[in-house]
Amino acid sequence: MLRVGMLTSGGDCQSLNATMRGVAKTLYNSDEDVEIIGFLDGYKGLMYGNYKVMKPSDFSGILTEGGTMLGTSRQPFKLMGVPDADGNDKVDLMKKTYKRCNLDCLVVLGGNGSQKTSNLLSEEGLNVVGLPKTIDNDLWGTDMTFGFQSAVDIATNAIDCIHTTAASHGRVFIVEIMGHKVGWLTLHAGMAGGADIILLPEIPYDINKVCKALDQRTREGKRFSIIAVAEGAISREDAALKKKEYKQKVASREYPSVSYEIGAKIQEITGQEVRVTVPGHMQRGGAPCPYDRVLSTRLGAAAGLMILNKEYGFLAAMRDNEVVKVPLSEIAGKLKMVDPESSIIREAKAVGISFGD
Ligand code: F6P
Repeated sequence: MLRVGMLTSGGDCQSLNATMRGVAKTLYNSDEDVEIIGFLDGYKGLMYGNYKVMKPSDFSGILTEGGTMLGTSRQPFKLMGVPDADGNDKVDLMKKTYKRCNLDCLVVLGGNGSQKTSNLLSEEGLNVVGLPKTIDNDLWGTDMTFGFQSAVDIATNAIDCIHTTAASHGRVFIVEIMGHKVGWLTLHAGMAGGADIILLPEIPYDINKVCKALDQRTREGKRFSIIAVAEGAISREDAALKKKEYKQKVASREYPSVSYEIGAKIQEITGQEVRVTVPGHMQRGGAPCPYDRVLSTRLGAAAGLMILNKEYGFLAAMRDNEVVKVPLSEIAGKLKMVDPESSIIREAKAVGISFGD
């Protein structure tokens, strides 16, 4: 009997169920006698032994279902070394559950932090297979993460909807897009939605340059402007601060988020009327888009094949449209950020998009 544990960890996304289905169908289609144990609410389920024994029927009819049928939670990697409320070592707890369930391996669907923990568990001797989840597409080692394209669709749709009202009223509209540390989602949704200005964490902006770009559009007779702002967009001045100082500044910010601060400054400098829209967690909701369904099926199937071949300690990753195995130790703790010098930024600038730099 091949006993496989599975969990979904961190922020959810649209394609988690589709990915688990890919793993399960591949395993059930093999000659092995397989039992899948689903841990509830991410690593928490593994720590406290909350799980359910899955049936093949659990993995049917879920290709198009968003969210995660196992539930998820955030268990920050940096707190893994801190004992739980009862003084227990969290890693110890997870290892004990793995042993008690007599698992042959554990499949972890997660983003950056979650894969740091999966690497830790792998170093601790557990057989782990990672799968790259996140709407942020910031996981190092893979060209693409599942969830990203579905979120791009939703964020783009938000910008599309804003376009007509912005045009009717002749206003500046800011659409705040998810991504505290990286701007892939904002960059792609911004380009797809025809944003005039895109502000990313990787390219600190100068508010005067942002206003200059807006004034330029007004001079050209354009009645409105759309700015796609990443949650983690940062001004040049703030980027020059020490990390701690910046964190303190953000904590004491009088605005609900960076977009409102930028909006207030634009209104003050240009006199233009500004509105802010925050699609928020909508970006993680709903059904996965067809691209993600294919990606998840491929990555899930590849993970299933890795398990059947007893290849552990890897992330199933996309490189040049092929699924490859990347050691978890190689990806742990690294972020895949937008390179300000990359060609996509050059191309965006070539068509007139301002990054406020
Ligand atoms: O990592 C995915 C993500 O949606 C980020 O883009 C966003 O900044 C964060 O999660 C929001 O986290 P939470 O769901 O905990 O509010």
